[in-house]
Amino acid sequence: MSFRTTTAIAYVEDVSPGSGALPPRAWYAFSDARSLSLNGSWRLRLSPTADTEDDSFAEPGYEAGNWAEVTVPGHWVLQGHGSPIYTNHLYPFPVDPPRVPTENPTGDHLRVFDLPSDWPSDGQSVLRFDGVESCARVWLNGTDLGEFKGSRLPHEFTVGHLLRPGGNVLAVRVHQWSAGSYLEDQDQWWLPGIFRDVTLLHRPAGSVLDFFVHASYDHVTGEGTLKVDSDVDGRITVPALAVDVAAGESVTVPVEPWTAETPKLYDGVLATEGERVPLRIGFRTVILEDGLIKVNGRPVLFKGVNRHEWHPEQGRALDLETMREDVLLMKRHNINAVRTSHYPPHPAFLDLCDEYGLWVIDECDLETHGFTEQSWRDNPVDDDRWTPALLDRAARMVERDKNHPSVVMWSLGNEAGTGRGLTAMAAWIHGRDSSRLVHYEGDGDCRDTDVYSRMYASHAEVERIGQELDGGTHKRRQLPFILCEYAHAMGNGPGGLADYQRIFESYERLQGGFVWEWIDHGIKHADLGYAYGGDFGEELHDGNFCCDGLVFPDRTPSPGLLEYQKVIEPVRIEVGGTDGTVRVTNRHDFADLSALAFEWSYQVDGETVEAGALPVPALAPGESADLTLPEPPAGTRGGERQWTIRALLTTDTSWAPKGHPVAWGQLPVTAWQAPSVTASSRPVLGERQITLGPATFAPRTGALTSIGKVAVDGLRLDVFRAATDNDNGTSWQDGVCFGSLWRTFGLHRMRHRLDSVELGDDALTVRTRVAPAAREAGLATVYRWTSDGTRLKLTVSVTPEGDWQVPLPRLGIRFGLAGSTDHVRWFGGGPGEAYPDTRSASMLGRWESTVDELQTPYVRPQENGARADVRWAEIGGLRIEGDPEFWFSARRWTNEQLDTAAHRTDLTAGDRVWVNLDHGQHGIGSQSCGPGPLSQYHLLVQPAEFSFSFLETK
Ligand code: GAL
Repeated sequence: MSFRTTTAIAYVEDVSPGSGALPPRAWYAFSDARSLSLNGSWRLRLSPTADTEDDSFAEPGYEAGNWAEVTVPGHWVLQGHGSPIYTNHLYPFPVDPPRVPTENPTGDHLRVFDLPSDWPSDGQSVLRFDGVESCARVWLNGTDLGEFKGSRLPHEFTVGHLLRPGGNVLAVRVHQWSAGSYLEDQDQWWLPGIFRDVTLLHRPAGSVLDFFVHASYDHVTGEGTLKVDSDVDGRITVPALAVDVAAGESVTVPVEPWTAETPKLYDGVLATEGERVPLRIGFRTVILEDGLIKVNGRPVLFKGVNRHEWHPEQGRALDLETMREDVLLMKRHNINAVRTSHYPPHPAFLDLCDEYGLWVIDECDLETHGFTEQSWRDNPVDDDRWTPALLDRAARMVERDKNHPSVVMWSLGNEAGTGRGLTAMAAWIHGRDSSRLVHYEGDGDCRDTDVYSRMYASHAEVERIGQELDGGTHKRRQLPFILCEYAHAMGNGPGGLADYQRIFESYERLQGGFVWEWIDHGIKHADLGYAYGGDFGEELHDGNFCCDGLVFPDRTPSPGLLEYQKVIEPVRIEVGGTDGTVRVTNRHDFADLSALAFEWSYQVDGETVEAGALPVPALAPGESADLTLPEPPAGTRGGERQWTIRALLTTDTSWAPKGHPVAWGQLPVTAWQAPSVTASSRPVLGERQITLGPATFAPRTGALTSIGKVAVDGLRLDVFRAATDNDNGTSWQDGVCFGSLWRTFGLHRMRHRLDSVELGDDALTVRTRVAPAAREAGLATVYRWTSDGTRLKLTVSVTPEGDWQVPLPRLGIRFGLAGSTDHVRWFGGGPGEAYPDTRSASMLGRWESTVDELQTPYVRPQENGARADVRWAEIGGLRIEGDPEFWFSARRWTNEQLDTAAHRTDLTAGDRVWVNLDHGQHGIGSQSCGPGPLSQYHLLVQPAEFSFSFLETK
């Protein structure tokens, strides 16, 4: 029985990276040396402080009695023990580095294991932890091996001398808080636990230690040069290249290069006396030349995402299939790059990036953002005492991941201010690996970095940077530019992607960006659907700011991902320079178009009448061609006509099957013509109602009550939308945030004053004024109803009065239909939602859905589900035609109910389906962290007139 003293846990608050672990080295998934996974069921004892329990549990023979069981890899707070905490940048403990609170949940983990009977008794063994948050102390069979910090980095210990054939006791004490927590203030859930694999690796005599694969590509000669440095003598063989060389010897042979578009890997082996390690070699050269990031001699354009590791039930403990799902989803959505925000991912993820083809910015496990609250005073990255820990983190990342061709840049970390420690990291990395570039967004002058990187810069600023008008230091002006974060995908949005992409493609210096972020960090919750910050009673939290991904927590693509997929598609299809031609442009950086087949189809009123193949030459990257389209199909004179051209995969690839659509474009031939309705019916005032054609109205109010047998409720002007996260903006932004302006102005509580109900010869006219309390501004709104006996037409005229200081969220009408309303058909944009600055992926066609499926399940409910450019829609027994086209949405609750819901489970179907037909929508932007919608997407208050005709469909 050992005794606890404060010194026994001094390591927790020690700024050093730890003690006892082996030096970092290259990671590989397997070799011919034996290994034993220690993942699985472990016993857990959770204590409220770091020193409540003694360490006798580490002794063989300890009885774990009533200890809980947890799964490793995993986080105990997601397995029923304690709760997760979400903060963006605030430390959830007092900032007094390196001290941490006495309340320091500590999980003693215990696992007893036997060696397989054939486990070799020769040589050594090593115990590897791939990730433990935030600090661990390890014992094997009662011997203290050491302790470590650096949650998302591997740590190995020599254990061979301690192993027994049976009954080995592995004890790991994990502290939620440690000095390391100060370096891990990333915007994410705080999730303690052994969350990555634990493995026992046999190390036969003469086995591989560290090795560094150098595989470059000379785009002039088409040759690759391979040299594998190894700490242990050995030979490298690559059968497909007839390579057989000694470690340290270099060989140059003709090769196919590796790129994210053409991820050619050569299988090889590093054989030392005691081990054979499989290599997957990708030849590529990354350099900074002419102020550009070039790979294999060509500049690349990053169409990237920031990826946190996330699973709605397992947190950051991801299995291989979930990692593969991320990669496949990215590839299928035209994404070509990942920033591993903000820590090195599970190493298997990088194997997948090598295999499927993604450019990677590998980011170190470092963020000290919370120090911004004290003007960065005491920031560990500017305090020499912490530099060993920073260098340890840099080394553990670089050494672990250096053999991945997909990794093209090392990133020092995220939002850690500036300081000598970062400079030391950059210097060390440059010295260790000159074959890659160094990135860090916080280095505004690019003193230590090779690329000028920013986050959330506005379109205008990015354009200025593209034009090299941004100034900055001499060094910075020579560097290429990337947006390591942009387009904050929180809730509905991000808006403005197409506008960014246009700018990226216009200036060479701009080498693309990385959308923030890949996945919503919602936690599956029995009562709430998905939980976010505050749902676990945290006293300090940042709400749903963690739900800002392009995929929902369950990895269903959100409309934001479909928009991004369209905006970054590698082939542009647009109207050609001469009549009857389509222009096809290859926007790949490396691949020609030979992997794609093109198809045309011709639609009349959204229905395809003919389709065929469109021969397209195998254009080289950057090339375009204007191609002649066939004669329009005979007999297709009337109606709205258009071409749709698609580019599809010609064969199965590793990431998508043959026929997968990679790009598309639509070329209008004729425009939509709304049906005309002759005002030939006269409104008739009866005892209980006014009738006009197929419709009835309330006599006193002029309110529409039915169209044929379809009851209609509460039709009136609507200018309100449930605030999106992007409407709401953030507390730290000075810019105008429309969500709060709308609320202050009172757009959520508009009053509708009835001025007159006028029965004319051929029209029923209802005059109203729509305005919020306390304001002089209002909207004089006239509803003019006419009919030809069959169709009912409504023309809405809106005339602004007074001083309108805000644009409108929406402008249109809404009404209620029976709650049984379900099926919806429309001709217009689809199949998914769209808003003025998120409409690139909206394809003109005929679509069908249900009211429930029209809803986009944003984790925090908000405006969603509008369909753009709708010519007509059929819902609840009505066909509605627009003049001009309109935005269509329908839901089982009102916009006001949607606005007050905090989780989807707060929304319950009422006895009405509420339909919105909008003449205008305000843009979305990405002001939940970045800029708001560009001014061309503002819905300005100005006189407007728009019409809808209604026909009962029977
Ligand atoms: C950035 C930060 C990210 C995330 C994002 C907002 O400033 O680097 O980690 O917090 O803002 O979601």
